[in-house]
Amino acid sequence: MLVLGIESSCDETAVALFDSEQQRLCSLGVSYLHDGIIGHTVHSQTTTHEKYGGVVPELASRDHIQKIHAVVQTTLEEASVSKKDIDLVAYTKGPGLMGGLFVGSMFAAGFAYGLGIPTLGVHHMQAHLMAAKLCYPKLEFPFITLLVSGGHSMIVLAESLNSYRILGQSLDDAAGEALDKAAKMLEIGFPGGALLEKSALLSNNKQRFTFPKPMVDRPGLDLSFSGLKTACLNAINAEKKNETFDKECVNDIAYAFQEAVMQTLKIKIRRAIEQTGCKRVVVAGGVSANQLLRFKFSELKAKYKAEFYFPKLSYCTDNGAMVAYLGYELASNKWPEKNYEISVSPRWSLEHLSY
Ligand code: KG4
Ligand code: ZN
Repeated sequence: MLVLGIESSCDETAVALFDSEQQRLCSLGVSYLHDGIIGHTVHSQTTTHEKYGGVVPELASRDHIQKIHAVVQTTLEEASVSKKDIDLVAYTKGPGLMGGLFVGSMFAAGFAYGLGIPTLGVHHMQAHLMAAKLCYPKLEFPFITLLVSGGHSMIVLAESLNSYRILGQSLDDAAGEALDKAAKMLEIGFPGGALLEKSALLSNNKQRFTFPKPMVDRPGLDLSFSGLKTACLNAINAEKKNETFDKECVNDIAYAFQEAVMQTLKIKIRRAIEQTGCKRVVVAGGVSANQLLRFKFSELKAKYKAEFYFPKLSYCTDNGAMVAYLGYELASNKWPEKNYEISVSPRWSLEHLSY
């Protein structure tokens, strides 16, 4: 099965082609590829949004409209396949920004209609967590998933392909959003997570600031990052008042902020393992690209005999590969009808999937 995956829920226009036959050859060790992805293109809108310090939804939709056709074309050329060979078009139906989702849904419907093949609108966060199965095909359900992106932070028990139980989630900002906002306050750019990570690596005084680890003194698996953000802002204001807010100071605050976020996530995942007894943990979404988070989780491996699965870096942030692969898994279970409906779900819980 050859599946075209389209992702446009936020600020990346991303397209990929998944070929199940290639995946089979990979599992036999007779393909030069690592997985079934034969074409993979990501157009990032960072330069459009960076001057605003965050994603501007209207600009995002316009850019998706302008780029989507070229991104699909590039992906087809990279894979050296004709569009006539495609069996299914999977696209992100939600959650995400309404305008971007509409662009993806409309493009998918038009493209698939022209070819007489079905479309399948998939859940963005489910796609993020299934990126781990794309990278590790032997990974079995059930597994705990930490989904940490710019829009969501949640701890989920993935019971089967279509059954997810949310064990905890952020009561305010998502982890990625908090990192982005801290980076904005520190004036180190957008998108903040990766830049904050780089800045933290340059810290020469790791003890200079200590921020509270949010929600770790309370039971349960919910998360909250707004208090941490306020602590960060207070520290910045105090340093500015003292005229000591320089490059060194930025790096030291970035270190302390990142440490507090990642340590909190580690403590919550440790609890999730203890609470569920499940020792397989997938970490997905843009923040899973963070090296400190990966290091911290590796410390839990030995103690809990837990297995951690991180998708490869290019499948951590928004991408079309995860959408194409999820489309393949869902269609293998139940082949979608051809209805070419333009349908998006900007707010859609993982607990309410209906394919
Ligand atoms: O999954 P994603 O690409 O888009 C959403 O669905 O939101 O996640 C984007 C988020 C942003 O907040 C970005 O700052 C964060 O992932 N991010 C990182 C890193 N790379 C991206 N956070 C921490 N460390 C990174 N290396
Ligand atoms: Zn995402």
